[in-house]
Parts: sequence; structure tokens; C-alpha cells
Amino acid sequence: MEAVMNNVTIEKAKTSKIKDVDFDNLSFGSIYTDHMLVCDYKNGQWQAPKVVPYQPITLDPSSKIFHYGQSIFEGMKAYKDESGSVWLFRPLENFKRLNKSAKRMAMPELPESYFMDGLTTLLQVDSDWIPQSAGSSLYIRPFMFASGNGFHASPADEYKFIIALAPSGSYFSGKVKVLIEKQYSRAANGGVGFAKTGGNYAGQFYPTRLAAEKGYQQVIWTDDNNHEYIEEAGAMNVFVRINDMLLTAPTNDRILDGITRKSILDIAKDEGIKTEIRKVSVKEVVEAAKNGSLKEMFGAGTAAVVSPISAFGYEGVDYDLPELEDSYASLLKKRITDIQYNRAEDKFGWRHEVV
Ligand code: PLP
Ligand code: COI
Repeated sequence: MEAVMNNVTIEKAKTSKIKDVDFDNLSFGSIYTDHMLVCDYKNGQWQAPKVVPYQPITLDPSSKIFHYGQSIFEGMKAYKDESGSVWLFRPLENFKRLNKSAKRMAMPELPESYFMDGLTTLLQVDSDWIPQSAGSSLYIRPFMFASGNGFHASPADEYKFIIALAPSGSYFSGKVKVLIEKQYSRAANGGVGFAKTGGNYAGQFYPTRLAAEKGYQQVIWTDDNNHEYIEEAGAMNVFVRINDMLLTAPTNDRILDGITRKSILDIAKDEGIKTEIRKVSVKEVVEAAKNGSLKEMFGAGTAAVVSPISAFGYEGVDYDLPELEDSYASLLKKRITDIQYNRAEDKFGWRHEVV
């Protein structure tokens, strides 16, 4: 049976999988809700978005996604507060970044109403799936890929935009130890590092596997020129605290312009924490670790939230970070999650209620 809400057609699943889910023990991004949003691009136009039962996709082997990797995605979360209301965090920033990625990968940009109405309708249909247990949320994965066919190395003429939802717990299961990379690069000047495109992640897997074999959970990427400056980690932007100054790299065409990163910078300023957006050299971080002025390092991202870094490795040496009682990381994590879960005033206007 079909219904229509916010101009989005809804085809309901015949049965629900929700009773099989243990909401108190959620891992990250590994179980999916009953429905998904699908929107097709063909004949030069986006067709109306539809909510349909979550299901596999059939593609021709010549679909360009398989050969030339035209694929982009976003990462967002929906939060349920104590009264059961549902909230998004700065969703238009994700929408704008999706289209920035689309443009760079020669893919069609999506209209704002298809993204926002499609997402809110899907969330209303699957709202029972949004966890309320501490530290959990509904991870939202909007993505777009080339479904059009052909071995010619040129942009496809057909695309699919899908939003899938996964009730999720935390991204990291334990302490986060990182390796500052000296050999491999994630991105290059003039390249696609700023775009949230699949290949940026695929290219990291091999160096990250080598790092994991040595006991590191993430790689911290450095500039592709001389590997002198810290850029970002595999799935998050990076902050460094030297004495009482909070530092993070400026974004550029090699770094993802993280929504958590910019929110953390605004909250830090609001807290009276001194911040500097500037190139952070590996040399100064190593020196600060040696002389005791390196107080904290942490990652910031939608999946990672604010993840303290317990140690970093560089040139075969591990440097442990101190465990602080009142770290900037814990203060900033509390401030941002209190806004996200509607536990505190939202003086920045970032919260968006799903009604
Ligand atoms: N950097 C990379 C490479 C990421 O994949 C992510 C995650 O989205 C981030 C940074 C953090 O971005 P955001 O805070 O918008 O989630
Ligand atoms: C996110 O934080 O939403 C991301 O997209 C990171 C991802 C690689 C898990």
C-alpha cells in the first residue's frame, strides 16, 4: 500500500525487523532499518524521491560506479531526546557538502527539497529505530553513485541517490592510538581530498591496515609535499592542544571540511578556550610531547563525535598523551552532544527538529 507524505511516496515494508535488534548493544553501522529513500537521476533530471522497503539493488556489470568510482556519500545522525522528539544537527551543511562533492566528481547536484523532505519522511517512517540508549543514535548514510552504463571513461548519464539508516553505538571500541604517516598520502593539491568520495577511503585502507598491524586504529595524514604538517585522520578532523591553545589545520582542497570540526571551534571560542586555525607541524607536536606541553589530541567527526587520542606513533617511537581529569575533549564533547540530544540550550541555532 502506498501513502504520500511531504511529496514523497511511501511503500511500507510488509514486516519489520526491529524486534531482532538489541538496542542496548549496538555496534556502528552494521544493522539497517526497514526502509530506505531512493531517488533516480535519468533523462537529465532527478525523479521524485520514494521511501521503499530496505532491499538490495540490481545493477548492470557495466554500471560506471564499478569502473570509474563515481560515488559520494555523507554521514549524519538523528538523535531522540527524552520526550521522544527527533533532532538533526546542521543538516543543510551535509546537503551543501554532498553537492560540493557531486560537482567535483562530475555528478548531478540534488535539489535541497529532495534531500530534506526525503530524509525527514524516511526518519518519520522509521522513527521507532532511533535509539534512546546513552551514546547511541541513528546513523544516516546518504549516498549517490553512477548507475548508468558504459565502459567509456566519462561521467555516467544515470545516478542513484539513496539514504540508508543504521542504529549505531560508538565508532571506536577502545582507546584511539594513531600513527602519523610519513610515506603514504591521502590526498594531493588540486585533487579530491575535500570531497566525500569513496576512493578517498579505499585509498586509505592499505596504509591503515599496515598501521593496524602495528596496533594503531587510525592514520593521521600529513601533507603530500613533505609530510611535515598534520592534516586529518581517516574518519575525522584532528585537534591538538599545546599548553592551553587548541590547534587545528585550516581546511583546503586536501581536507574534508568537517561539520563537527567547525562546531567544536565555535563552542571552544564560546567557552573562552584559545583556538588557532593554522598549519600544525609534526615537529612541534613531537617537541611538545617531549617537553610536556602537549596536553591533548583528539579527533572530531559525526561518527567519531569527539574521540580522545591516547597515543601517537611517529618514526618508530610512541608518544603517550596524559589522561586529564578536565580535558578540553570531554568539555567539548559534552557541549556538542548536549546540543545534539536536546539536553541544553542551542544558542547557535544548529538543531533541526524532525516533525
Ligand atoms: N574527515 C574525514 C576524512 C571524514 O570522513 C569525516 C567524517 O565525516 C570527517 C573528517 C568529519 O566530518 P564531519 O564532522 O562533517 O562528520
Ligand atoms: C562520518 O563521520 O559520518 C563519516 O562519514 C566517517 C565514516 C568514514 C565512518
